[in-house]
Amino acid sequence: MYTLRWIKGQLELLDQTLLPVKTTYIHCTDWRQVAEAIKMLRVRGAPAIGVAAAYAYVLAAKEAGSDAKLPSLAEKQKQLVSWAEELRSTRPTAINLMWAIDRMNQLLSKLTTNIDSKTQTTDTWNSIVQALEEEAVQIEKEDKALTEAMASAGADIFKGQQHLRIMTHCNAGALATAGIGTALGVIRELYKRGQLERVYADETRPLLQGSRLTTFELMEDKIPVTLQTDNMAAYAMQHGLIDAIIVGADRITAQGDVANKIGTYGVAVLAKYHKIPFYVAAPYSTFDLTLTSGNQIPIEMRDPDEVRYFGNRRTAPADVDVLNPAFDVTPHELIAGIITERGVLRPDFKESIQRMK
Ligand code: MRU
Repeated sequence: MYTLRWIKGQLELLDQTLLPVKTTYIHCTDWRQVAEAIKMLRVRGAPAIGVAAAYAYVLAAKEAGSDAKLPSLAEKQKQLVSWAEELRSTRPTAINLMWAIDRMNQLLSKLTTNIDSKTQTTDTWNSIVQALEEEAVQIEKEDKALTEAMASAGADIFKGQQHLRIMTHCNAGALATAGIGTALGVIRELYKRGQLERVYADETRPLLQGSRLTTFELMEDKIPVTLQTDNMAAYAMQHGLIDAIIVGADRITAQGDVANKIGTYGVAVLAKYHKIPFYVAAPYSTFDLTLTSGNQIPIEMRDPDEVRYFGNRRTAPADVDVLNPAFDVTPHELIAGIITERGVLRPDFKESIQRMK
C-alpha cells in the first residue's frame, strides 16, 4: 500500500477518508482533483500535502501548455501561478503546502527568465514542464529520505531505554508523508531497535485520524498499539502508562511554537503536569521562520458538521453552534525537543532553530 504515487503523468492518491474500511485510489489527471483531495483530507498530513501539491502543480503546468487560450509563455506562466494560488488556499495551516508551491514557483520563474519571447516554441513550455516534474519527483524523494533521518535521530533520544510506551496524537505516519512518517517514523525505528513496548494512539476527534489511520498503519506493521479516546489521555498518563509523547507538526515558528492537530496542546499540558517528555518530529519544510510566535499561525476552521456528526450519524442538534479549529498551538515551553532530519533541537529553541538554518 502506498500513500501517493506519480505514475505515467498521473497522481494516484490513497483516499484516506475511506480508511480503514476501504483501500481506494483516486487517479488524478487534473490539478483540481488534487486540490479537492487536499481540502477534503483524502490526502492529509503536512508533508504529504506538500508533495501532492507539487505534483498538482505539474498537472496544472501541463494544462496551461495545452490551453489554446494561453498562446504565449507569459500567459501560461501567469495562469499557472494563479492556479497555484488556488491550490495554496486549500489548507491554510500546513506550511509544507506553501513551501512546496513556493519552491515550484521559484523554479518556474528561474526557468522562464531570459527566454526571448520571439524564440518561444511549444518545446520551450514542454521543457519547462519536464523540469517542474523533475522538481516534484525530487521533493517526494527528499521527503522520503527526511523521514528516515528523523527516525534515527529521534530514536537515539531513547538510547538505553527499554519497554517504551509512547503516546501519539493524530496521524504523523507513512500516511502523512512520502516516507515512513515523522512521529511514527521514530516509533517504527524504536520498534526495529527492540525498545518499544506499545503505542497509545489518541482517537483524534473530530475526523478520527488516530483511530482510522494511526492504529491501521501500525497494525499493518504489527506494531503493538492501544487506541484511546482523546479524553482518556489524562487517565493513561496519571496511571503511569506513558513514558514519552511524540507528535508531528503542521507549522513551527522561529521560537519553537508548534501548530499540530487540534488536541495536541491539551496533551502537551497534561504531559507537563505528569512530567512526561513531549517531543515533536518534523522536517525543515515545516518551519516557518517568518513567524516568531505561535499566535501568528493561521488556524484552519472547518465545517461545523464534522463535529455535529460522528461519521455519518448526527450526534448533535442539526443547527447547534460549533467551534471547529483543525489545529491548536503548543507553546515552546511545553516541548522537550524537536526531532528534525538534522538532529534533535532542544530549548532554547530560538537559538537551536537559528543554528539549524
Ligand atoms: O488535518 P490533518 O490530518 O492533515 O492533520 C495532520 C496533523 O496534524 C499531523 O500531525 C501533521 O500534519 C504532521 S504529519 C507528519
